[in-house]
Amino acid sequence: MTMEQQKRYGHFDDQHREYVITDPQTPWPWINYLGNEDFFSLISNTAGGYSFYKDAKFRRITRYRYNNVPMDNGGRYFYIKDGDTVWNPGWKPCKTPLDFYECRHGMSYTRITGRKNGVEASVLFFVPLKKWAEVQKLTLKNESSETKTLKLFSFEEWCLWNAATDMENFQRNFSTGEVEIEGSTIYHKTEYRERRNHYAFYHVNTPIQGFDTDRETFVGLYNEFADPQAVMEGKPRNSHAHGWSPIASHYIEVTLKPGESKDFVFLLGYIENEQDEKFEAPQMINKKKAHALIAELDSTAKVDKAFAELCEYWDALLNIYKVRTGNDKLDRMVNIWNQYQCMVTFNFSRSASFFESGVGRGMGFRDSNQDLVGFVHQIPPRARQRIIDIASTQFPDGGCYHQYQPLTKRGNNDIGGGFNDDPCWLIFGTVAYIKETGDFSILDEMVPFDNQPGSEVTLFEHLKISMDHVIKNLGPHMLPLIGRADWNDCLNLNCFSWDPNESFQTTENVSEGTKAESLMIAGLFVVTGKDYVALCKKIGKAEEAARMQKAVDEMIEAVKKHGWDGEWYLRAYDFYGRKIGSNECEEAKIFIESQGWCTMAEIGAEDGMVAKSLDSCKKYLECEHGMVLNNPAFTKYIYEYGEISSYPEGYKENAGIFCHNNPWVIIGECLAGRGNDAWSHYAKILPSYVEEKYQTLHKVEPYVNCQMVAGKDAYKPGEGKNSWLTGTAAWMWYTVSEFILGIKPDYDGIRIDPCLPETATDYTVQRKFREADYEITIHPNGAQKGVKQIVVDGKPIDGTVIPYSAGKHVVEVTM
Ligand code: GLC
Ligand code: GLC
Repeated sequence: MTMEQQKRYGHFDDQHREYVITDPQTPWPWINYLGNEDFFSLISNTAGGYSFYKDAKFRRITRYRYNNVPMDNGGRYFYIKDGDTVWNPGWKPCKTPLDFYECRHGMSYTRITGRKNGVEASVLFFVPLKKWAEVQKLTLKNESSETKTLKLFSFEEWCLWNAATDMENFQRNFSTGEVEIEGSTIYHKTEYRERRNHYAFYHVNTPIQGFDTDRETFVGLYNEFADPQAVMEGKPRNSHAHGWSPIASHYIEVTLKPGESKDFVFLLGYIENEQDEKFEAPQMINKKKAHALIAELDSTAKVDKAFAELCEYWDALLNIYKVRTGNDKLDRMVNIWNQYQCMVTFNFSRSASFFESGVGRGMGFRDSNQDLVGFVHQIPPRARQRIIDIASTQFPDGGCYHQYQPLTKRGNNDIGGGFNDDPCWLIFGTVAYIKETGDFSILDEMVPFDNQPGSEVTLFEHLKISMDHVIKNLGPHMLPLIGRADWNDCLNLNCFSWDPNESFQTTENVSEGTKAESLMIAGLFVVTGKDYVALCKKIGKAEEAARMQKAVDEMIEAVKKHGWDGEWYLRAYDFYGRKIGSNECEEAKIFIESQGWCTMAEIGAEDGMVAKSLDSCKKYLECEHGMVLNNPAFTKYIYEYGEISSYPEGYKENAGIFCHNNPWVIIGECLAGRGNDAWSHYAKILPSYVEEKYQTLHKVEPYVNCQMVAGKDAYKPGEGKNSWLTGTAAWMWYTVSEFILGIKPDYDGIRIDPCLPETATDYTVQRKFREADYEITIHPNGAQKGVKQIVVDGKPIDGTVIPYSAGKHVVEVTM
């Protein structure tokens, strides 16, 4: 490891549940998310980022330019002019060297503190619960021995609502921008005169001595965010934007005696009005709701109270599952960051991050079903609603839209459907929900097809047609046809493309005559099929259970017969019926997805297939940073395979470490009872372990998982990308909480079945489950797997399921 790789940019503060960044020049912007339900913000460690209401595409409140130079330019900026020195608490954009800098990313809040020439500026950013606004509480403190007179400028740049057209349609955009100014509030009302019934505002709870709302007037056409003319000259222009680029900047003169400090509450809010209450006078927006929202958050006391409520909210969420193992690195991921990331992925699916622009992708059918497995224990009613929303985008034949827009909840026609793994995930999500809550009534909910009123059938019926969709689409080996792609969006076996202008995701999907089958879907079908069978039995549908059991058994036979390559499971058959992921192939002889799913399904365990497959993962896929997706990497484009072979070696779906699928193999290891192997795979992609080893190499945030780490064939193995929004979060959670630590919600109670490294020592899990509260202590006694005895409230029980009963229970587990 080089010196450079050992440099540290921050550290965990577990007591406060924060990651503390001590150097603003992180190897990549390290971001956080604010907001929990409707109003959201992304914020980087230098206060970059943006805000939106519900949908990052259609209701973008502030503007952001991706892949900018310099990186991460634009955000909520405070400029402090102290004599000739202009600086920002978050260092950017002026980049004036600070005497002190710190950014603390916490649970739905971020606090950025800077000090310069005896002045401290600390900003607390958060979105209060149930409020459509971002609070920015700025505290200025004079730590010097002289009186300070400062000039403070705030800055936000409005997005003209639709984040996509905002970056494209300039012939229109430059003429539509409109604002209103009233006291210390700047209102953004572009397009309000026509079809929009929403506006935004930026307020500060103190009189202002000036303002700006026109970007060019404030910044200057030949200046930058780093040196806006108005700030540099210490003179606001009181500009009123008409068209071009509207912004919001307050100007405040502040005098601070030695030791004195002052709070300023800035509020970025979003308002919707009823159609017939849009205006208070011709052309003037109705500000009643804005005034009301401002009044709720216009003092330090009110804001501090809202912040305390947010912290209590997180206390409660993180009290549902808490482990004490004595290993800080594990405990902090399980108790804090993994659960936090699960909430974030549940909220955003793959829409808005510093790698996802918020305009391209809505909520994924498969992605969201997986995300909710990591989230369902936190707020089950929201998971329930999500399941209904997702199922409502399904078609009557069980197929579904691959994505839907969160604002409209309508399927996204641009991407369409045809991903044949999608339907199975609905079972995966629904089963997890029922096991957590015991709420079988969800199965009776009436849910439409493609959101068409009048087409409603029960959710159970949706599950049934999901299973049937697989059975009705089997190929020549009686394995599932892959369709456009399975979980691996880039294995496009029916999309033959030589045209660089077409997307692999949407180009033709030749279903006529195809023999392209997927072993990943086969494994997924067996896993979710077993779940479906158990569910049917549970609700008294014996016949349906038997019908599906037969289909599952046939699938298992098909995999054993046509899906085994000798040392591992095949990955697929191509359009022509040729093997993919076989020793016979020239490249990509083995793939991780089918190893993961077929070992989770325990297909052929009795014949040694599972053990061999897991061993092959160690032998061919594992490297220092995790397991790669396929090996060897593709070195050339293969027309019959599609996007997977379009990536250079070691990146993304071409032999990158796709962290999302590593847990599948880890669960396979756990089911096989191989605790040492499970743990060693797990620790390799556990952020807190990576944090210590390679902050600089890894590049992205050390407190969350990223989608992909460059694999062993890459130019720079170990480099992370696509942080935050990834199925990895839910899968890491599912793996560690249920399979490693072994606390598994089940219909009738909690099943205890840990799989641990032999070095594991006693640990305790505090688990709230429905109306019960369990304190479960596990004594591994050096065993990797196998529960010998469970004692509940002093009485030994039979089997491994703690029967559910409300109230507090103390459980002792001996392995
Ligand atoms: C991305 C997608 C996910 C897909 C995976 C593999 O993470 O969000 O849906 O399964 O890539 O292609
Ligand atoms: C690209 C990415 C893949 C992602 C897909 C979604 O193919 O490689 O990870 O799932 O786009 O559109």
